[in-house]
Amino acid sequence: MIRSVNIKRMVTYMEKYLKANFDYWQSGYIADNVESFVFRIFGRILKPELGLSGKNNEKLLDFGCGGGAALSFFDRNGFDVYGIDISEVDINHCKERMPRIPDHFAKVDPVPKVDDVFFDGDFDLVTAVQSLYYYSNDDLEIRLISLKNQMKPGAVIYATMMGSKCWYYDNSVDYKDGLREVDIDTPRLKIKNYFVNFTHSKEDLTRKFSMFETIHVGYYDAHYIETEGSDFHWTFIGRA
Ligand SMILES: C[S@@+](CC[C@H](N)C(=O)[O-])C[C@H]1O[C@@H](n2cnc3c(N)ncnc32)[C@H](O)[C@@H]1O
Repeated sequence: MIRSVNIKRMVTYMEKYLKANFDYWQSGYIADNVESFVFRIFGRILKPELGLSGKNNEKLLDFGCGGGAALSFFDRNGFDVYGIDISEVDINHCKERMPRIPDHFAKVDPVPKVDDVFFDGDFDLVTAVQSLYYYSNDDLEIRLISLKNQMKPGAVIYATMMGSKCWYYDNSVDYKDGLREVDIDTPRLKIKNYFVNFTHSKEDLTRKFSMFETIHVGYYDAHYIETEGSDFHWTFIGRA
C-alpha cells in the first residue's frame, strides 16, 4: 500500500526545495546522444518483450525530457513523442531538435498536481530518466499518480532513480520527507541547494512505484574518475 497524502492541492505553493530545483535546472540539460540505458532498455525490453516498437505510432510522454535526446531517439523509431520539463531552455532545444512537432513540448509547473493532464494523456509509454528523484516522498506520490491517470490501462512506465550507492549520497545530509540536501565542491562540479530523494534498495524502489505493477527492476552504474564515485541508478519498468 502506498502512504496516503493530501493529494488534492487547491493552490500552487512552491516549497523551498522545489524552488531550488526549479532554479537549478533553468540553464538546461542538453544531452546530444541517447543514453545507453534508454537505447538498451528499448532494444532489450520495451520492443521485444512489451511490444513497444514504435511501429504502431505509440504515444509516449518523456517526463523531465531535458534537451530531448531520448525523445528524438523514440521519434526516429516511430513513436508519437511528447516531452515536458521545468526548463524553458530544454523545451526550446527540443523544439529546435524536432521542428516538425514544436507543439509536442511544454514547460510545466514544478509543483505536481494529481489532476495534471499533459497533451490529453492516453499514453502507451511514459519515460522518466533521472528526473523523478527531485521530489519529496509526498510529491513523488502525487506525480506518479498523475502520470498513471494519464496512461492507457496496461501502459508501461520506465523510470530511473538515483540510488544511495551513488557518490552524491556521501555528500548529502538529511533534509525532510525522503529528501537529502547534496553539497559537492570539486574542481569540476559545484552543487549547492540541490535536493535528491535517494532510493536505498529494490524494496524501496517498488514501494515508491507501488501504484504500478512491477515488471522489471534493474540498475546502471559507472565510475569514471578517482575523485568521484559511483553513478548508481535504479531502473524500474512497470505497468499501469
Ligand atoms: C538529469 S536531467 C535528465 C534529462 C533527460 N531526462 C535526459 O536523460 O537527458 C533532469 C531533468 O529533469 C528536469 N526536472 C527536474 N525536476 C523536474 C520537475 N519537477 N518536473 C519536470 N522536470 C523536472 C530537469 O529540468 C532536467 O531536464
